[in-house]
Amino acid sequence: MKIAVIGGDGTGPEVVAEGLKVLKAVAEKVGFEYTTQEFDVSGDRYLSTGGDASAASIPVIHPEEIEQLKGFDAIYLGAVGHPDIAPGILEKGLLLKLRFELDQYVNLRPVKLYPNVPCPLAGKGPEDIDFVVIRENTEGLYSGMGGVQYKGTPHEVATQIMCNTRMGVERAIRYAFELCRRRDDKKRLTLVAKTNVLTSAHDLWWRAFNEVGQEYPDIDKDYNHVDACCMWFVKNPEYYDTIVVCNMFGDIITDLGAMIQGGMGVAAGGNINPAGVSMFEPIGGSAPKYTGQKKINPIAAIAALAMLLRESGANSGDEKLRQAGERVENAIMATTPKMQSMSAGRMGFSTGEVGDLVVEAVAKGD
Ligand code: IPM
Ligand code: MN
Repeated sequence: MKIAVIGGDGTGPEVVAEGLKVLKAVAEKVGFEYTTQEFDVSGDRYLSTGGDASAASIPVIHPEEIEQLKGFDAIYLGAVGHPDIAPGILEKGLLLKLRFELDQYVNLRPVKLYPNVPCPLAGKGPEDIDFVVIRENTEGLYSGMGGVQYKGTPHEVATQIMCNTRMGVERAIRYAFELCRRRDDKKRLTLVAKTNVLTSAHDLWWRAFNEVGQEYPDIDKDYNHVDACCMWFVKNPEYYDTIVVCNMFGDIITDLGAMIQGGMGVAAGGNINPAGVSMFEPIGGSAPKYTGQKKINPIAAIAALAMLLRESGANSGDEKLRQAGERVENAIMATTPKMQSMSAGRMGFSTGEVGDLVVEAVAKGD
């Protein structure tokens, strides 16, 4: 297993260090070999090598580095974000760049409430909040198509095109049906879209969903408008099993999902190319104000590592890796009940101590 590590900015390197501690422990326990290689890619590097803070002037990640990354089995990413750099530069220059160039067309975001993690929804517990969102990850409103004319004048025109291709939509949907079939749950796949307004773009989604769905007679084919879905996330999260959704709506509903599973300290995601190199990351950002204070919660980053192992194992048929991922997830579930809170600075432990608790649980677990 060859893992590329991008710690990134702010608290990214701190949380990734805890994940790597857990990786070492689980590799010893389960018995697999791995190597890691760090890539110094970050907003800090962009600035220190002459990047302009207000406009993209040099690459955030260099083409040679992207070529190198293609030689790895997986990428483990901390966080990239810098308070001094204008919005869009790092996002487009690194995160979206890697998603697009490595064709990571699925963003897999489990929404799972771990034991004893405080949930903001009254009366809901771990048995109610356990579903998975498949967010299309390479097109839609993120395609970068569109532009601006007459900028700064009263006649300014700005467009941002929601680009949907049948191929792009269909492969995300197919991935979702397959995953739903493998999950030990309700066998229900919900398409979340806005067919009543986006009568071109989401009609394509609707037709692709129903046509592909014919190959999955065992799966209950379900539909929610995205606004109603937000309502149900709060009112009846237990209804959901697997969700498939376009890029932008997926971005939005998974932040809501992260909150009902206990917050940004817990939520992890995977940018997946089943035939290529996938990248796993905590969903939260670089949290600059907590940098170096040993206060940030590493659980999300450790959960991203668990996903990295589980998904890589499932994808390559390597049973040991898959088991290692499950072992790490079980260790997280043994650790969260010991923590006072999932919020930075209120965990009752330092960042490193939480990592140590997970390591201990990995060693103990069977
Ligand atoms: C996410 C983030 C990114 C996105 C940003 C940082 C570009 O919000 O991974 O959800 O919008 O996809
Ligand atoms: Mn987001």
